[in-house]
Amino acid sequence: MNILMVCLGNICRSPIAEGVLIEKAAKAGLNWRIESAGTNGFHDGEHPHHLSTKICSQNGIDISSQRSRKFSKKDLLEYDMIFAMANDVIFDIQRIAQEEYSEEKVQLFLEPLYPGKLQNVPDPWYGTEKDFVEVYDLINKACDAIINQYANPSKTN
Ligand code: 4NP
Repeated sequence: MNILMVCLGNICRSPIAEGVLIEKAAKAGLNWRIESAGTNGFHDGEHPHHLSTKICSQNGIDISSQRSRKFSKKDLLEYDMIFAMANDVIFDIQRIAQEEYSEEKVQLFLEPLYPGKLQNVPDPWYGTEKDFVEVYDLINKACDAIINQYANPSKTN
């Protein structure tokens, strides 16, 4: 299964989600390809935010080799699941994807954890280290819910 994590800048939230889910999928023996992108492209080519990198590192996850890239229409064809960190990201994905948009593929990242609640991962961009820690903890729980929901017994999807 090919999974894309999407936020606005692809430097704070979705790089953490990519790194955490890669780690959990590997531990679960799942052959998933997991990447991330951002809808605004403002930080194209940049490393993740230093606080995202720091908090992942404190949890044994190295995201320092990631680089921000802009979400594109063809991502709808390349990925099986596209997880948006928040509602405004879904609107951006709809705007960029146009006729390729798929309600089956695109969903809120917190949906598997909090079904039907339409919860957003708060944007920590203007926040403090504490905000990044809270975002990390939320993403960590949500990735467990994704593994539980999407891993099948053969562990090859
Ligand atoms: P992210 O946070 O979407 O979690 O990567 C943001 C980072 C940068 C900006 C917005 C959100 N920005 O507008 O530059």
